[in-house]
Amino acid sequence: MPKSKISLKAVILVGGEGTRLQPLTHVIPKPMLPVLNRPFLEHTIAYLKKYAVEDIILALSYLPEVIQDYFGDGSKLGVQLTYAIESHPLGTAGAVKNAEQYLDGTFVVLNGDIFTDLDIADMLAFHQHKRAKASIALTWVDNPCAFGVVDADSDGRIQRFVEKPSPDQVTSNWINAGIYILESEVLEHVPIGSHYMFEKGLFPLLLELGEPVYGYQFSGHWLDMGTPEKYLCLNCDLLLSKAKSVLINRLSKDEVWCDQDVTIHPSAKIIGPVIIASGCQIGQRVHIKGPVIIGPNCYLGDDVSLEETVLWRGVNIGVGAVLKQCVIGNDTKVTAKDQVINRVVIPQSSQNCT
Ligand code: GTP
Repeated sequence: MPKSKISLKAVILVGGEGTRLQPLTHVIPKPMLPVLNRPFLEHTIAYLKKYAVEDIILALSYLPEVIQDYFGDGSKLGVQLTYAIESHPLGTAGAVKNAEQYLDGTFVVLNGDIFTDLDIADMLAFHQHKRAKASIALTWVDNPCAFGVVDADSDGRIQRFVEKPSPDQVTSNWINAGIYILESEVLEHVPIGSHYMFEKGLFPLLLELGEPVYGYQFSGHWLDMGTPEKYLCLNCDLLLSKAKSVLINRLSKDEVWCDQDVTIHPSAKIIGPVIIASGCQIGQRVHIKGPVIIGPNCYLGDDVSLEETVLWRGVNIGVGAVLKQCVIGNDTKVTAKDQVINRVVIPQSSQNCT
C-alpha cells in the first residue's frame, strides 16, 4: 500500500507508433497490448488510482479512437479520463502542452510504456521538499547506453543530461525513468503546436535557465515494455511475482488460474503459474509450463507443448506444436507440429495493417 493518498492530476503519454514493438503494434496500439489479459494502460490507470490519482489526462497521438472506445470516461475503472488528442505527434513535452488547459499547479506525467511500482506520494513529498520546478524519477540500470543518463549532485539537483551515451561517456547509471512531477508554469517554455521533447528540449532548457530540476532516485520495479522481449518479460515477471500489478492478485508459484468455460482434458499437464482465460479448450496430453498466459477462446490441439509464452485471443495451435518464449497475436493459427521458439507471430493478414 502507498504511504499516503495524494491529490494530483496525471498525464499519461500514449502516443508513438510503437515502432520497436512491431509487428505486435501493427494490429493493436501499444497501450492496448494485453498484459495478463488486460490492456497495458488499464494496469497503469489502476496503479495511479492506488495513489488516489483519479483525474487522468490521456495525451494521445496514435489510434486514439481505439483507446477512447475501450476506456470511455473512465467511470468503469473509478477514474475520470480526459482526452487531449494531437492532430500530429507533438513529442512528449508538446503533448503535455496540448493538455495545458486541464492542468494547474503540480501534476505528474508518465510515459505510457513503462511499468513501475514507484511510490508517487514519496516522490511528491521529495518534489515539494526540494521546491523543484521539475522532478524526474531516476532508475538504476546496468547498461545505460540505450537510455537518457542523468547526472545529479549529492543533493539530487540535476547537473546535466546525456542522451544515449557511448560507453566512454557514461558517468552515471541513473537514467530518466519517464515519470515526472512538474509545476504547470514550466509549460510556458514549451512551444504551442510544434514537436518538442522533455528529454532534449524542456529539461536541458530549464537547467540553462537555472531552474531547480531534481532527480528522484528509486529502486522499485521499473520496466520499459517497448520491445517484444520486454513485453514478454513483463508478463512473465507479473506471473512470477517479480512485479506486482494492482489489477491482479498475486499468484502462488504453481497456481493455475482458469476463467469460466475452460475445458482441460484430464491427461493435460499444467505447471503454474498459468492464466487461462474464458472459452479455452486444452486437448489431450498438452503440456504447459508456466509462466504462460492464454487469452480468451484459444484452442490447443492434442500434444501441444507451451512454455514461457503469451497467447492473445482466439489462437489456434495445431496438434503437436511446440512453443517456447513466444508472443502469439489475436486469431493466429499455428500449424500442427510447428516448433516456434523465441518469436512473435501475428496472422499474415494483419502484417500490413494498423
Ligand atoms: P514509440 O515506440 O514510437 O512509442 O516511441 P518510444 O517508445 O521510443 O517513446 P519515447 O521514448 O519517444 O516516448 C516516451 C513516451 O511518450 C512513450 O509512451 C510514447 O508513446 C510517448 N510519446 C512519444 N512521442 C509522443 C507524441 O508525439 N505524442 C504523445 N501523446 N506521446 C508521445
